[in-house]
Amino acid sequence: VTAKLLEEMPPIINTEVNEKVRLHCECLVLSDETLHDVCQTLNTELNRGLAKETNAEATIKCFPTFVQELPNGKESGRFLALDLGGTNFRVLLIELGEGKFAMDSKIYAVPHDIMVGHGTELFDHIAACMASFINERQLNDELLPLGFTFSFPCAQEGLTKARLARWTKGFKCAGVEGNDVVAMLKDAIARRQDVRIKICAVLNDTTGTLMSCAWKNHNCMIGLIVGTGTNACYMEKLEKVELWDGATDGPQQVIINTEWGAFGDNGCLDDIRVYCDHNIDKESINPGRQLFEKMISGMYMGEIARQVLVKLVDEGLIFENQNCDALKEKGQFFTKYISEIESDKPGDFSNCLSVLEDLGILDATPEDCASVRYVCEVVSRRAANLAGAGVAVLLNRIAQKKVTVAVDGSVYRFHPFFHDMMVEIIKRLVKPGIEFDLMLSEDGSGRGAALVAAVANRSAMERQQ
Ligand code: GLC
Repeated sequence: VTAKLLEEMPPIINTEVNEKVRLHCECLVLSDETLHDVCQTLNTELNRGLAKETNAEATIKCFPTFVQELPNGKESGRFLALDLGGTNFRVLLIELGEGKFAMDSKIYAVPHDIMVGHGTELFDHIAACMASFINERQLNDELLPLGFTFSFPCAQEGLTKARLARWTKGFKCAGVEGNDVVAMLKDAIARRQDVRIKICAVLNDTTGTLMSCAWKNHNCMIGLIVGTGTNACYMEKLEKVELWDGATDGPQQVIINTEWGAFGDNGCLDDIRVYCDHNIDKESINPGRQLFEKMISGMYMGEIARQVLVKLVDEGLIFENQNCDALKEKGQFFTKYISEIESDKPGDFSNCLSVLEDLGILDATPEDCASVRYVCEVVSRRAANLAGAGVAVLLNRIAQKKVTVAVDGSVYRFHPFFHDMMVEIIKRLVKPGIEFDLMLSEDGSGRGAALVAAVANRSAMERQQ
């Protein structure tokens, strides 16, 4: 969905709904006052992440990325990129020329047993996919520079050294936490002996998204992902980054990977977390962790809606005499259903009915459909409000007159009103005088990786001259 298309969408609709259903959902509706409080708390937590004294115990880690320069549009060359961290693993070949960009990519599955198996198997799998990609394109003789988009919280010690702090988003491979993922990738490549690669950079998807947008748009200073997970990065002044131990004679700024998904892990969001948030957390692979992410991102949004719907069924408020067995099974209400249901035109429930049919609910009444749609609206609006509150905090910190926010991720892309809802709430939370726009940043994880690698090359060459 392009920005243009989003503009053409009808305004956000609030379905008229049964009063009891509305009352039941009230706990998921956040007032502006509450969102203001969330902003303040988030700002405090970001400060705690950045400060030397509090970083160790802070939940939002604010990792410096070692990316200090934005692209100037003149980057060029051929790059490989690896993208691990969402639903898929991708290998990409990217060609950058002045203002031009071409890309060839292939998606590979990461089987579930690899996601939760041993780390060496994961990296062997990645190296094997990369080798097959390179062979298919007969690139074996080139020593290609590579950017590795690894979208998990990492403490970086340089542009090519990143220790995984902890797994998120359903990954849980043994023997990786605490280790340098670049070294693990190099080892896996060495074990194969059939590819030659020069790893130039490791980065988070938020950084890639920011860089990819900044290539053309020089006001871009924030990168946001609302996809399987959620996270944001932003350009911060070096003087505010107390833990910075890189060079101080270079650019006086650095991109900070906030890892805001962990916001709330110290209990500071407990006032707004409700029964479905608690259930989802308890049943997850990482209980007690990533609590903000669990209220917002695509990995959990469908499940939140499902939990609410099941409650409504149990209270006799929807689907009377219908078979709700499938709905009662964990994970059966996919996040994409929310986008589909909310894409129905007002008064039309065709997508809604076909989703319900998928779930074996064949005789839903129009009132049932209105309730289902309402639940979806409340859940997605809460997510957009929370993500928007986060963006407002970053905009207020940067405090520049005009800032572009680069955004990517399946929820932002495919939900019909997520963009509009975010813009609406950010306008209400941002300091007067700050202008912003949210831009879909296509393929940040691929193009962004090439750009980080290219900018790193450029800076290294400039230093040599
Ligand atoms: C999770 C990861 C983070 C990533 C985000 C979006 O929150 O911890 O590194 O940026 O998902 O993919």
